[in-house]
Amino acid sequence: MDTTKLIKCVFKYFTTNPPTKEFTSSPYFVTTFHENLGIRQKTMLNALLLLQSLNKKEYNFVETGTSRSGLKNIAGDGASTYIFDAFVNHYAGMVTSIDIDQGAVNIVNSSTSSKTTVICNDSVQELSKITPMIDCLYIDSYDVDFLDPIPAATHALNEFLAIKDNLTPEAIIIIDDSPASKQYLPPWAENESLKQGYTVDDIQWPNGKGMLLIPQLLDLGYRLIFHEYQAIFTKK
Ligand SMILES: C[S@@+](CC[C@H](N)C(=O)[O-])C[C@H]1O[C@@H](n2cnc3c(N)ncnc32)[C@H](O)[C@@H]1O
Repeated sequence: MDTTKLIKCVFKYFTTNPPTKEFTSSPYFVTTFHENLGIRQKTMLNALLLLQSLNKKEYNFVETGTSRSGLKNIAGDGASTYIFDAFVNHYAGMVTSIDIDQGAVNIVNSSTSSKTTVICNDSVQELSKITPMIDCLYIDSYDVDFLDPIPAATHALNEFLAIKDNLTPEAIIIIDDSPASKQYLPPWAENESLKQGYTVDDIQWPNGKGMLLIPQLLDLGYRLIFHEYQAIFTKK
């Protein structure tokens, strides 16, 4: 093929298949994650749009609680590690995920790219050792019991206190499992309550992993950007 013909072919290819610029418009994000995210769909999209708008050369994600079910429970668990792994492969950067369960660590380390590292430890202990500055902190370890949320909420607060000095000025914090009100309780809350002999009407408010951390972030001047089942804060 002569050069002119080749250039025409390449031009035609890129005009009919334009390269996807934003991660959130990429077919992989849309069909694998966005369409399956359920109660986290809007928050995750908003958080990623915010990160993209920063136009950083690379992004550093730190999360507590890894995607223990692989890609098998996207609606239930959130698949955060896989979403962040795909994000740093679309742009550049790295993901550090911390989980206390060696089985979950092995599953995720063996099914994510070399840009993601899952460390087995208690998250509060491990966060206190992290030195690089963080663009996105995702708080999601310690399963929350909406009838007894204080243990998970205390752990989330301690996670933030362990890492707060390592957040970049424009950092985003996402707190999972932190419904803004009864309207945002997950579909499984009813069954979980019944198993313990209660109903969702026995769930007290405020609630969730963020019930102690959210007031602390507001006191420190962080901005609450969006709040449904998850809460998103920015530092400035
Ligand atoms: C809800 S799952 C995380 C889901 C994941 N972020 C996702 O979106 O797919 C919670 C994880 O936290 C882990 N975990 C519980 N207590 C922990 C602790 N003290 N330190 C670190 N991880 C912990 C559990 O082993 C579990 O894998």
